[in-house]
Amino acid sequence: MAGQIHESWSSRSAFLMAAVGSAVGLGNIWRFPFIAGENGGGAFVLVYLICIAAVGLPVLIAELSIGRRGGLSTIGSTREVAIQEGRSRGWQIIGWMAIAAPILGLLFYSTVAGWAFAYIFETAAGVFRGISPEGSGKVLAALHADPLQMAGWHFLFMAATVVIVAKGIRGGLEKAINWMMPLLFLLLLILVAYAAWAGDFRRGVAFLFNPDFARLTPQAILIAMGQAFFTLSLGGGGMMTYGAYLPKGVSLPRTGVVIVAADTLVAILAGLAIFPLVFAYGLTPAGGPGLIFVTLPIAFGQMPLGTLFGTLFFILLAVAALTSSISMLEPVVSYLEEHKGFKRARMALISGLVIWVAGLGSVLSFNIWAEFYPLSFFPLFAKARVFDILNYVTANIFMTLGSLLVAVFVGWLMSRATSVAEFGMGDGPAYRLWRFLIRYVGPLAVGIIFIFGITSL
Ligand code: TRP
Repeated sequence: MAGQIHESWSSRSAFLMAAVGSAVGLGNIWRFPFIAGENGGGAFVLVYLICIAAVGLPVLIAELSIGRRGGLSTIGSTREVAIQEGRSRGWQIIGWMAIAAPILGLLFYSTVAGWAFAYIFETAAGVFRGISPEGSGKVLAALHADPLQMAGWHFLFMAATVVIVAKGIRGGLEKAINWMMPLLFLLLLILVAYAAWAGDFRRGVAFLFNPDFARLTPQAILIAMGQAFFTLSLGGGGMMTYGAYLPKGVSLPRTGVVIVAADTLVAILAGLAIFPLVFAYGLTPAGGPGLIFVTLPIAFGQMPLGTLFGTLFFILLAVAALTSSISMLEPVVSYLEEHKGFKRARMALISGLVIWVAGLGSVLSFNIWAEFYPLSFFPLFAKARVFDILNYVTANIFMTLGSLLVAVFVGWLMSRATSVAEFGMGDGPAYRLWRFLIRYVGPLAVGIIFIFGITSL
């Protein structure tokens, strides 16, 4: 094993924080409410939760175990483990997908993170004080109409990501996440309390938790499952890469449960904060990618200490996005680092720059390219901008297929002895449940949902 190439975590809690940081991000606070709103709420949320528990958690444990076994980048680890298990090196395709997915993801993620940056300053300047729903929509529209400003924020976000990744995982980041995560959590609780008091809480809760199965198309099921992978960073390289820096003694199932619990809680809290406000302000849940950026500022404009809470909220949102984006750039840099003569800092800079330039396609999707539908020959993408295509393809194709391959690989091709050792809790009921989920439920459910979702278009 070539573990010396990479540094390892300074402690178990440092790893846990980084993994939770990877999972919790825009996926929970921005993407979850926006796609749950577009897909009718309740039934969609139910499918999402089932996918998290039945497929997401088992695949998370599987990814961490591949990473820890291999001790390398996603490509190196999947190749190493395949060789150790006497399988074809071709399985490193999993590692390649786990590098493609976060690159694609960053191309639109950084645009949205840029909005969070912009909103720190808008909120602090008091732009939203007493603002109406129309007014709030106009502030976001003005930002979207300004490609230069958006490209600037997108640049700052990528620059911050590059600096942190260049410094390596042990930098100040470990410490920063330690107190910022709990603070974000606290602010979300405050927002939920405000939504319960000032919003249409009953309607918001009903929207989120009363399933209307008529809205559950094969397409919606696929999108819900894709969100389960997206929010847990699965098939996205980060977890496998972080797992490679992990010492032997750490229990993967326990760690997995903590990551999944924290991530799911944040998503549900975000939903509970947003939908009561959406209904109280007469907005539509299907408001698209701008949903939280239109809804929450209205609340900040009305609540006591709203300017303070709002500014803090967007700072923490940006930090949450950053702890995810570093886990998206890290797999790329980790791979390049394994090749002689490639220095971490330079690799981070070059890959960050390439991603920034390519990511301009997402920035332009909101203005100059707003009516440019590059894949309009597919019915699904008839009205999809570059941004929408990236958002769809990353989660519902790359991360979904990547997670499917991980399940097959660990469930069927890794020997029982290896998987028992990585699971680390003997081969009792917990292990058997996990093995059942990863061997049968994962591949079958993901395969069927993927095929029906894709062909139903
Ligand atoms: N899980 C993160 C979130 O919810 C996003 C994320 C992390 C991701 N790693 C990824 C997305 C890799 C795509 C690919 O915000």
